[in-house]
Amino acid sequence: MSLGRLRVVTAGESHGPQLTIVVENLPAGMPLLAEDVDVDLARRQRGYGRGGRQQIEHDCVEFVAGVRHGRTMGGPIAMVVKNRDWANWQGKMDIAPVPEPPPPVTRLRPGHADLAGVVKYGLDDVRNVLERASARETASRVAAGGLAKAFLRQFGIEVRSHVRSIGAARAPAPEELSLARDGASHAWWAAVEESPIRTGDKAFEDTAIEMIKSARTAGDTLGGIFEVIAYGVPIGLGTYGQWDERLDGRLAAAIMSIQSLKGVEIGDAFANAGRFGSQAHDVIDYEPAAGGWTRPTNHAGGLEGGVSNGMPLIVRGAAKPISTLINPLPSINYATRERDVGHVERSDVCVLPAAGVVGEAMVAIVVADAMRLKFGGDSLDEALRNFRSFLERSA
Ligand SMILES: Cc1cc2nc3c(=O)[nH]c(=O)nc-3n(C[C@H](O)[C@H](O)[C@H](O)COP(=O)(O)O)c2cc1C
Repeated sequence: MSLGRLRVVTAGESHGPQLTIVVENLPAGMPLLAEDVDVDLARRQRGYGRGGRQQIEHDCVEFVAGVRHGRTMGGPIAMVVKNRDWANWQGKMDIAPVPEPPPPVTRLRPGHADLAGVVKYGLDDVRNVLERASARETASRVAAGGLAKAFLRQFGIEVRSHVRSIGAARAPAPEELSLARDGASHAWWAAVEESPIRTGDKAFEDTAIEMIKSARTAGDTLGGIFEVIAYGVPIGLGTYGQWDERLDGRLAAAIMSIQSLKGVEIGDAFANAGRFGSQAHDVIDYEPAAGGWTRPTNHAGGLEGGVSNGMPLIVRGAAKPISTLINPLPSINYATRERDVGHVERSDVCVLPAAGVVGEAMVAIVVADAMRLKFGGDSLDEALRNFRSFLERSA
């Protein structure tokens, strides 16, 4: 048990019987229903560019510990998400030995963990690598993120995501999204939820769909950038006290840990690198009628000194194009060491809409953890009391 920390542990293979998720250290007395989590599991499955797997799975969570009569009890919460596809993998993914094991996967796929995994773990079947390295694991993160979001909602914190680019096409977004404390209710987000690309801009949506169609026809794939914004985050989460306790670093690590994510940006980090300081920093203002401390801009993405500053948190993630190509790249057969092409398995073409939903989950987990550290409380009431008294003192 990690005292005071929101701890998330997951287990499960892509084509195994189920995903198992344990979340520790949410307070007792928090309302929690399976539906709270299922909403996000369904959002992760949507989006233009996904492959055939999403037609098979209808992810929903079952609580197996830690919740009674719709409220948390204070102990570890355990959840399972069944893999419907497991039924199609009998004989290939059995847990007990089988009389006739399937032939091993030996054609290494560039861009996957295949080569590193078989060498590292001394395996001769890439299946034993790809089953856990697969982004099926992101359903577990989204389930854990659903719990983190349910907790954050009690404090008025909401986490949203949208797609900012696919391939070379960039999506515009209204500037006020990054400024308003109550931005979570902006009409843009309702449009995002309706969009198969998770954007509020119809022209970008059309372009992105055409690009994904062309990539699919060419047997190719696409990457892009998503943006996560957390609204209602109070001043004071994270600390500059130690390098590994800074909230910016923790958010960056959480986003970077998502499969295919290779770059992270906090606020306008990359644009700021090319600006004068006078254009980059957010001047400080105080308006009692507008809730106290405020800024006319939010280039910093709500973080200064590794601590939240009361503005919306803005984190972007850059995803590489999906690695599995229907026209596979040249590679080596691990068994023979001879030239070959990468193994091909049913695959997505572009996952940015889904990756953004996973990004929301990771941001929610990190922010919920920081809230638990700052405000503690064994019960939700105690945590809320601590939170409110801090807000009164810091206004
Ligand atoms: C939601 C989501 C779905 C993904 N689906 C696929 C897929 O269908 N095929 C694939 O090759 N990679 C897919 N990926 C990416 C791979 O899992 C990832 O690139 C691979 O495991 C190697 O890890 P790395 O890219 O982080 O280095 C997906 C990623 C995410 C976030």
